[in-house]
Amino acid sequence: MPAPITVELEERSHHIFIGEKVLENIELLIKKNVHEITSCVLVTSSSIFDLYGTSILEHLSELKIEKILVPDGEAAKSWNVVEALLGDYIEKGLDRKSVVIALGGGSVGDTAGFTASIYLRGIRYIQIPTTLLGQVDSAIGGKTAINHSKGKNLIGSFYQPTLIICDTSVLKTLPLRELRSGLAEVIKYGVISDPDLITLLENKGSFILKADKKLMTQIVKKCVLIKAKLVEEDEKDSKGKRAILNYGHTLGHVIETLSNHEINHGEAISIGMLAASKISENLGYLKYNDFERQENLLKSLGLPIKLPKLNYNELISVMKRDKKTEAGSINFILPTGIGKTPIIKPVPEDTILKVLEL
Ligand code: GLY
Repeated sequence: MPAPITVELEERSHHIFIGEKVLENIELLIKKNVHEITSCVLVTSSSIFDLYGTSILEHLSELKIEKILVPDGEAAKSWNVVEALLGDYIEKGLDRKSVVIALGGGSVGDTAGFTASIYLRGIRYIQIPTTLLGQVDSAIGGKTAINHSKGKNLIGSFYQPTLIICDTSVLKTLPLRELRSGLAEVIKYGVISDPDLITLLENKGSFILKADKKLMTQIVKKCVLIKAKLVEEDEKDSKGKRAILNYGHTLGHVIETLSNHEINHGEAISIGMLAASKISENLGYLKYNDFERQENLLKSLGLPIKLPKLNYNELISVMKRDKKTEAGSINFILPTGIGKTPIIKPVPEDTILKVLEL
C-alpha cells in the first residue's frame, strides 16, 4: 500500500491514498481509518456504479451498506437531489456513526459531501473520486457545494472527509474530454506552484492523454501535495493562500454558468486561465513568453482557449455574484510566472473589457 499524503488539520486530519489499484484495498483502508461504523450509503451515479460499484460492494460485504444513485454531472448539484438524498438517509435510518461514501466525479463528491455535512448536523464521509478533476482538486480540501440557478457553487460548506482514496487506474476509462478537463486543473497547479509539473506535461503530453497509470499517479500526487499544503494553511479560504487555487476560475465559473455547463469545468477554466494571464501580461505582471508557453501547452493538450461569445453585461453581473468577488470588485488571480505564486488583485471592469476585447 502506498504511504498516504496526510492533510494535517487537528481533529479533522485525514489521509489521502493515491496509487494504481488502491481501491482493491478499500476494506482495509476503511477498517484502519474510519472507526465504529454503524452503516454506510454508497452515493454514486448509475454509470459509475456499472463500472466499479459491484466490486466495491463485494469488497465491503462486511459493512451494512446500501447504494443510492444520483444523476451524472452538474445535474447532481441541485436542491432537489440534496432533498432526495436526505430523505433516503432518513428512511434508511442513518445515524451519527453512519458514513456516506461518495464514488464518482466532482459533482457526486460535492453533493454527497454537502449532504453529509448537514445530515444530523454532520456525519462522516469518504471521497472516492473517479475523475482526474476529482482526484487533483474537488475531492481534496473539504469544499462541498451545490449550484443555484444564479451561480455555481454558491451553496455549500467547508467539511473535511474522513478518508480519500484516489485510484489512478480508474482514469483509464475516462472519456478524453473528461480527462482533458482534469488536465486543465493540473496545468493550474503547475502555473501557480510547480514549474517541473509544466515541463512534465510539455514533454509527456501524448502519454498523459492516454492516462498512462504511472504518469497519472505521479501527477495526482504532485497536485494533491500542493493542495494539501494550501488547505492546511488556509482551510476556510480566508487568508488569501488557498485563493490562488481559484486561478482561472473567476471567468471560468461564469463561462460554465452562462453556457449552461455545455462548456465543462476544465474547458471553462482553461479559457479563464488564459484570459487571466492575458490581463496579467497586460498589467505587466507576467512575461509574454510565459503567457505563450501556457497557451501552447493548453492547445497541445486539446483544451479550448478562446472566449465564447458572451453578453458583456451578463458576464460582469454573474462575475460580481461569484464568491471570488468582495465588496463589488472583481478579484483575479494573476500569474507572475510559470510555477511562481500568483498575485490576487481587483481588476477594473474597463480593463477586463479592453484586454479581453469584449
Ligand atoms: N477548488 C479550489 C479550492 O478547493 O479551494
